[in-house]
Amino acid sequence: MSDGEASADVASARADERSDLRGKVAVITGAGGGIGAAIAIALSRRGVRLALSARRAETLEALASRLRADPGVEVLALPGDVRDELHIEGLIRETLGRWGQIDVLVPNAGAGYRAPIAEGDPARWKQLLDVNVYGVLLTLRYGMPPLLARRSGHVVFLSSVASRVTQASNGVYSATKCAVNAIAEALRQEVTREGVRVTWIEPGVVATAFQDVAGYSPELRQRLLEDQRPLTADDIARAVVFVLEQPAHVSINELLIRPSDQVSA
Ligand SMILES: NC(=O)c1ccc[n+]([C@@H]2O[C@H](COP(=O)([O-])OP(=O)(O)OC[C@H]3O[C@@H](n4cnc5c(N)ncnc54)[C@H](OP(=O)(O)O)[C@@H]3O)[C@@H](O)[C@H]2O)c1
Repeated sequence: MSDGEASADVASARADERSDLRGKVAVITGAGGGIGAAIAIALSRRGVRLALSARRAETLEALASRLRADPGVEVLALPGDVRDELHIEGLIRETLGRWGQIDVLVPNAGAGYRAPIAEGDPARWKQLLDVNVYGVLLTLRYGMPPLLARRSGHVVFLSSVASRVTQASNGVYSATKCAVNAIAEALRQEVTREGVRVTWIEPGVVATAFQDVAGYSPELRQRLLEDQRPLTADDIARAVVFVLEQPAHVSINELLIRPSDQVSA
């Protein structure tokens, strides 16, 4: 066997070393429904222990009970708002108190809002900036030290196709997701040599409560959700599992996922 063949064999053996997620601990914000809940379900099936956060205690607890019905699944449900520093500090503290480690951080909580700039509601702008940007920063501020202390872990951000391509009426949402990408890339540079991988996923249209919460008009809903086949939250969860299961030397940083039918942003 030549040296070249030997090193190719070593390389392919390494490529087969998928990261085993069993026993890992994941913190997911915005896990009460939609993409966050789908990620929680997918990770629980791979033996990941879960700390879940969202504001509505009933929906969060209903998901946690459903997950706990499967043998061996361990779930903490900690209701709260990602804009509340005390909630985030408590979420991380209680997760560490229960399991002593955090391996996966998913700052997923987010919301949308569309309006032309000249007609926008400043209160909604502030809400978007606070949840989509400040909430993500708080989650990192308290969530990163445990990963760095163990020199291991993975952060998966939920950005959006809107971070790449904006549209009239979607400027403020796009701005929050551009901010997520900037934070993610800076974080990547800060921690990638410290054993922590960073990924930001940029979905196109995903059929969740997102469009209702954002208050989209019936015409826009029709265009996004009925005139084309949208992605499902499970499609995004599958991508998250794919990213997390890569061998330790492989870091998938940015993933743009559109529905096949989606032409513009
Ligand atoms: N759906 C899409 O088309 C799409 C496309 C690209 C990117 N994304 C991004 O994907 C992420 C998840 O969106 P989704 O589609 O799953 O939306 P969703 O179905 O509306 O779910 C949002 C989740 O976040 C929680 N949440 C909202 N505000 C919160 C806050 N202030 N504090 C804590 N939790 C909060 C909600 O629960 P509570 O209301 O109980 O708090 C819910 O569990 C977001 O960052 C979104 O921007 C979505």
